[in-house]
Amino acid sequence: MEIKTVKDYDALSACLADEVLSYMVSSSEKLICLPSGDTPLGAFKWIAESLAEKEAPSLHYKLVGLDEWVGMGRETEGSCQFYMNEHLYKPGKIDDARIVEFNAKAEDLENELEKMDQFLKEHGPLDLVVLGIGMNGHLGLNEPGTSFKTYSHIVPLTDKTKEVAQKYFSEETPLEKGITLGINYFLEAKRLIVIASGKHKADIIKQLVDSEATESLPASIVKLHKNSTLLIDEAAASSL
Ligand code: PGA
Repeated sequence: MEIKTVKDYDALSACLADEVLSYMVSSSEKLICLPSGDTPLGAFKWIAESLAEKEAPSLHYKLVGLDEWVGMGRETEGSCQFYMNEHLYKPGKIDDARIVEFNAKAEDLENELEKMDQFLKEHGPLDLVVLGIGMNGHLGLNEPGTSFKTYSHIVPLTDKTKEVAQKYFSEETPLEKGITLGINYFLEAKRLIVIASGKHKADIIKQLVDSEATESLPASIVKLHKNSTLLIDEAAASSL
């Protein structure tokens, strides 16, 4: 694991945007998984601006959706897919044909898991996975205690995640379960970048850097991955 500490949020956003864009303009098609959440928003702005100016033939990528709250879709304000659509897909003029996502509103969620696993079996591994770190160390919606061997799965959410996630919604929203890519997909990816910004992430970053890789701290897989970077700003690194 490389630890890359940059000055502030803008520097983190620029650094992340550069690397993601380098995959998107690669000469062969790349499979990229990007997280929703607040941390990547600055990078998404750069990426969307750059994509909107590029011609489709110069771009070779597909985006694989990381996670979603069960029962919600792109049209639900506050959902993960809503966030991705508002901040990346729409402003970047990304065609739906490039996006592979769970349908978290499907009656048959098991079928959604199977479809995603089948897609990644045929087209994987993921070339680039970028993940934010939850306040409890979760990755996607892989909560503490999730096995490192998981592929796509449905998870009961922890109280911490239910509470922190309220920031995405304009009114109190009950959340019970999530559907997410599992940790083994992140471990099998060719490149893994875990991002964190701000003082409020300083404690979890310290725990991560101090601990062994352990299932009680999903973000600690960044230590097991052979081509990974923990990309943080000085505020998130302030307890190290
Ligand atoms: P954040 O979310 O980027 O909004 O902090 C990270 C996460 O909870 O996975």
